[in-house]
Amino acid sequence: MQLPSLMQSQTQREPRQIGTLLALHKLGDRDPAITIVPKLKDVSDAYGRHCKVETLLRHINESVPFKERSDLASFVNWKGNAESPIHRWLRYREAYSPHLITKLGLGNNILDPFCGCGSILIGAAENGNTSTGIDINPLATFAAKVKLTPLSRVQLQAIHKYVDGLASEIRATKPWPVPDLSIASKVFEPVILDTLLRIRSLTESAFSADKKSRDFLHLAWVAILERVGSYFKEGNGIKYRNKKRLKIGYTHRLEGQWQRERFGIDQKKFVLDAFSEHVRMMLQDARFWRKGAWGDQTVIEGNVLEMDKLLPRRKFDSIVFSPPYANRFDYFESMKVELWFGGFVDSYESLNRFRKASLRSHLGADLNRSYQSVAALEQLITLMDQNASSWRMGVPDLLRGYFDDMRITLKHCKKMLSGGKCFVVVGNSAFAGVIIPTDVLLANLGLECGFKKAEILVTRHLTVAPQQRNQLLSLENNMRESVVVLS
Ligand SMILES: C[S@@+](CC[C@H](N)C(=O)[O-])C[C@H]1O[C@@H](n2cnc3c(N)ncnc32)[C@H](O)[C@@H]1O
Repeated sequence: MQLPSLMQSQTQREPRQIGTLLALHKLGDRDPAITIVPKLKDVSDAYGRHCKVETLLRHINESVPFKERSDLASFVNWKGNAESPIHRWLRYREAYSPHLITKLGLGNNILDPFCGCGSILIGAAENGNTSTGIDINPLATFAAKVKLTPLSRVQLQAIHKYVDGLASEIRATKPWPVPDLSIASKVFEPVILDTLLRIRSLTESAFSADKKSRDFLHLAWVAILERVGSYFKEGNGIKYRNKKRLKIGYTHRLEGQWQRERFGIDQKKFVLDAFSEHVRMMLQDARFWRKGAWGDQTVIEGNVLEMDKLLPRRKFDSIVFSPPYANRFDYFESMKVELWFGGFVDSYESLNRFRKASLRSHLGADLNRSYQSVAALEQLITLMDQNASSWRMGVPDLLRGYFDDMRITLKHCKKMLSGGKCFVVVGNSAFAGVIIPTDVLLANLGLECGFKKAEILVTRHLTVAPQQRNQLLSLENNMRESVVVLS
């Protein structure tokens, strides 16, 4: 870890801070009103900790050069996943822009070890580059593969015909079995569920001999689940549409009325229209397959921690990725309906296996795995408010695991890079009164893994949750979304 100056100045500055703390404590001791003493002590503790966090963050930040690059903000935090041809086939809120290929000057042979639903790979296909992507989420890799698998004109025509005849064909079709997800009947209205499952069965039988077309239609089917469902993704999970969020909290919507407002009076038609519309949009986008290098992209479902086994002896001239941020978001929780209904998991054990194996960025990951500690992180953890709920939930171990997983990832990346640069798109996070400068910590881990140079491009400043704002006053400028450049 390249933070010698950090360690040195920390010991130099410590006496002054302790002095301030002691002075405040003394003031409290002298106060005859005994009830005030603990309050004053609390304030002085919090103030003392805040000053220490500020000083420590300043030192950590001084270890790497920064550049303001707000011009990259819209590519890092990309809206185009919902609008751009091919990308829009599956909504993936965490996606970044394929234009990063040109914006960051990536080479011809690119690796994205957290490829999600394939943003960079699609960009590479369109530009005529070669790329490889890895992701642990089988839904994400499935979507990426479908997007990267051009269908023939005959196949596209057959899909067109299938969609045109769908409404009459599904009447005689037996519904596909309901998955064992415990909330299966809660996330869809009965008619909606029945219609969905009939479409699923019909697609399977109509295209039993053509896997590529079947997968194309299956992606469309999975992609509309949230739109026709009684749930939606929010924060770290799903919420139900029968509740409405007001400023003061959630309120129940009138049964019968919210369904009519959302789905209209004919729920079967609502699903058929949503599905047909989505497939037609995909068919329209298929024209983008005519130009580019769609056959030169590889998608691997696997764990980044085993990159060396997944890609033995492989070299790349550029590596770019956006790992999950250390913010407790569990992708397997927010995507559980799609994972179960899409057939990507078929039991709670299999869902849990993915959850446990995923990067230690959330509390459902395997936090019992061992880790190698990072000195600066340990110092930040010492300054955390141990009364905060995130502390009690185990965030310190999450952070230790996160940076250990990232160290392993960066080590693999260094080995697989042939001369070019590695770009890491990442956001910082805040827990228990402390901001975790993930970008700088990763830059230093990169240096420890053998990279010679590290630089941070700050793309935008983030805000903290309102309940944390007071505690983090004057530290908020450390909440950034950045690109860490390692070469
Ligand atoms: C921020 S998203 C990346 C999105 C991607 N850049 C895109 O544009 O679609 C992070 C990804 O990391 C994946 N992930 C989490 N843990 C992983 C692991 N251990 N190995 C590989 N991928 C993992 C998640 O499934 C998620 O798709």
